[in-house]
Amino acid sequence: MGPLELADFERAARGRLPAELWDFVQGGSGAERTLAANRDAYARHRLRPRTMVDVSATDQGLTLLGSPLSTPVGIAPMAYHRLFHPEGEVATARAAGRAGALMVAGIFASRTLESIAEAATGPLWLQLYWLRHRDALAAVVERAEAAGYRALVLTVDAPRIGRRLRDARNGFAIPAHVRAVNLDPALMAASHRADEGSSGLADHAREQFDPTLTWSDLAWLRERSSLPIVLKGILTAEDARLAAEHGVDAVVVSNHGGRQLDGAPASLDALPEVAAAVPPSLPVLLDGGVRTGTDVALAVALGARAVLIGRPVLWGLAVDGEHGVARVLDLLKAELDDTLALLGRPRLTDLDRTVVDG
Ligand code: FNR
Repeated sequence: MGPLELADFERAARGRLPAELWDFVQGGSGAERTLAANRDAYARHRLRPRTMVDVSATDQGLTLLGSPLSTPVGIAPMAYHRLFHPEGEVATARAAGRAGALMVAGIFASRTLESIAEAATGPLWLQLYWLRHRDALAAVVERAEAAGYRALVLTVDAPRIGRRLRDARNGFAIPAHVRAVNLDPALMAASHRADEGSSGLADHAREQFDPTLTWSDLAWLRERSSLPIVLKGILTAEDARLAAEHGVDAVVVSNHGGRQLDGAPASLDALPEVAAAVPPSLPVLLDGGVRTGTDVALAVALGARAVLIGRPVLWGLAVDGEHGVARVLDLLKAELDDTLALLGRPRLTDLDRTVVDG
C-alpha cells in the first residue's frame, strides 16, 4: 500500500538513507529537547469542532506577500537537496509548483538559483545566511532578484551553528560530489571535511557565518534589493516587535527544527506571543514539527498565516524525487482539507483562537 501519512515517508526514507545521512536530517542540537518539544506541542492541544455548517466547499488558498498559493503549507529552506536525489532542488521546485505551494530555496542549494527558478511554476523565495563574505552574499541577492525570486529570507537564529552531536560523532561532512553551487568553492571547502570531534558543517559555519549581525545590518540588505525581507528564527515578542519596527515584511517563528539553541521553546508555543506582538498586517509563518493537516490547522488557528515543512520534504525526495515531494504536499493538503471540513471551518480564514481548546 502507498503512503497514507507523512510518517510512512519517514519510515521509507530511513530504509533508504545511509545512517549518517539519516542522522544529519533527523538530528537536533544538544540533548534534542527542542526537537522533541516541537512535536509534543501539537499533541497538547485539542480542536473544537462546530457542526451544522455547510462544508461542501473547502478553501485552503491564500495570498502571501502578493503571491497566490493553493495551500498554506510551503517548503522550508534546507541545504543540499542533492544529498537525497540527483535532481536536488529542481525536483523539489517542480513538486512545489504542482501543489501550488511556496518553496524557500536555501543559499546552500546544490542546484543553481537559475535552474531552480526555471523549474518552478509557483512562487520562490531565497534563504540567506549572514556570511562574512559580504560580496558573495550581494552577488547571490542580485542573481536571485534577476531570476525572479520574490522574497529574501534571512535566517537569524544561526550566528553560529548548534551543537549537533550526531553529526560530530559521525564526523559528518558533505560528500565532494554535492556542492553549494551558488557560492565560490573556496568559501565552502570546510563543509567537505570534518575534524576530529566536529562535523564539516560546524567547521564551515565557524569559518563563514558572521556573528556580528544586528538590526542595523538590515539596511545593507535593503540597499541591495527591492525584494521583501523575511526574518526566519524569531521566537519572542521582543524580537517580533523589533522586526516590525525595522520594517521587515514577514517573520518565521522557528527554532530551526531544533537544530540551533537546545532548550528553545517549541515553535508552536512561541507562536501566540509573536503573533500578538506584530500588527495583524504582518504575516507570521511557522515551521518545526508540522506533520499533519491537524498540525497546520492548529498553527493557523494560533496565528500563523502559513507553515513550512522541513524534514518531510527530504523524506519525499529520498523516496521518490519530485513525485515523492509532490505526494508529501498532496497528503498534507488532503489532510488539511478534511480537518477544515470536520472542524466546520471550511475556509482557512475561519481558523481562529476559538478553534483551539485552552
Ligand atoms: C534545515 N534548516 C535550514 N534552515 C535554514 O534557514 N537554512 C538551511 O540551510 C537549513 N538547512 C537545513 C537542513 C536540514 C537537513 C534540516 C532538517 C533543516 C531548518 C529548516 O528550514 C526548518 O527550520 C526546519 O527543518 C523545520 O522543522 P521540521 O519541519 O524539519 O521539523
